[in-house]
Amino acid sequence: MKAWEIQGDFGIENLNSVEKDEPEPGFGEVVVGVRACSLNFRDYQVVMGQYDPKMPLPRVPFSDGAGEVLAVGDGVGKFSVGDRVAGAFMQNWIAGDVSPDAAASALGGAIDGMLSEKVVLAEHGLVRVPDHLSFEEAATLPCAAVTAWNGLVEKGGLKAGDTVLALGTGGVSVFALQIANMFGARTIVTSSSDEKLGRARSLGASDGVNYSENPDWEKRVLELTDGRGVDHVVEVGGPDTLTKSLAAVRMGGNIAMIGVLTGAKGEIPTAAILRKSVRVQGIYVGSREMFENMNRAISLHEMRPVVDRTFPFEESREALRHMEGASHFGKITIQVA
Ligand SMILES: NC(=O)c1ccc[n+]([C@@H]2O[C@H](COP(=O)([O-])OP(=O)(O)OC[C@H]3O[C@@H](n4cnc5c(N)ncnc54)[C@H](OP(=O)(O)O)[C@@H]3O)[C@@H](O)[C@H]2O)c1
Repeated sequence: MKAWEIQGDFGIENLNSVEKDEPEPGFGEVVVGVRACSLNFRDYQVVMGQYDPKMPLPRVPFSDGAGEVLAVGDGVGKFSVGDRVAGAFMQNWIAGDVSPDAAASALGGAIDGMLSEKVVLAEHGLVRVPDHLSFEEAATLPCAAVTAWNGLVEKGGLKAGDTVLALGTGGVSVFALQIANMFGARTIVTSSSDEKLGRARSLGASDGVNYSENPDWEKRVLELTDGRGVDHVVEVGGPDTLTKSLAAVRMGGNIAMIGVLTGAKGEIPTAAILRKSVRVQGIYVGSREMFENMNRAISLHEMRPVVDRTFPFEESREALRHMEGASHFGKITIQVA
């Protein structure tokens, strides 16, 4: 069977297609025929060596994949051949708080990932995917969707009537918009593109602010909320956006600290955090239980993830270059079989 591996050194040019042994399930393990994968900014960083420059190579990248159960090992009770499943981002984070053991089981980072025709995973690291979704749609869920769900719902306590500020229109942010819709919340979206803001509005965003044309976008967000500020910020920007997010959030509001799009460290306006009693909550994807909670909501609402473009397995490198170009809206996927 075929897989893609980062070999020798980092960089898209060092992502190579390789032939690997057919996997056999051990006790408690499941062989999954991967049908689709999706890309996250983190996968791009992994391949480029920006995520963990000391990561041992070779490594199969990508956290997100969905497919069909092909075989089960002894002791597997929850899944049977033919079930439609996805791998949980952290294989050993079942429920409760994240832990070092959970973090050491992240697919496509700490351990080999999903960019492979077949994978063998522990039964406890799998979830069933909603019936109404294609494999491409289901493959978008494990990282970006669970992250947005955790930040807004599990940790953020999102409720009807709340206002959510989603920064940009990448994978996490478009899921944040769709989750806010499911909860009867209002969403304000920022983007560098008016065309993408139009698409966000057609998905249900109440307002859009072009952050390239309005560098002081936080002021516009305050105007749009009659000076009150938003209840939740889906903070995917990092150091260059945090100060503005703190200005745009209401007193006592919630900032889900998720992304590093503008870098991994910078100044922290501590006084603004305490004066506004803001909760700045670090989010590292989510547990299997959160993934299952989210899937119930997605099934009930028949929510469909937004797939920007699907690449064939052979063009996995082109998919990463498409992400690098940042012209996408929502998720980029790869059709594996
Ligand atoms: N903590 C976690 O568990 C977790 C999980 C998933 C992702 N993340 C992080 O979250 C971030 C987003 O990930 P993703 O996979 O959704 O990325 P993505 O799909 O590549 O999204 C990129 C989009 O972000 C927007 N953007 C870029 N710079 C921005 C800025 N300065 N202000 C506002 N928006 C900006 C752009 O939207 P426009 O084109 O509309 O301008 C861009 O297209 C990444 O840093 C990723 O590492 C963290």
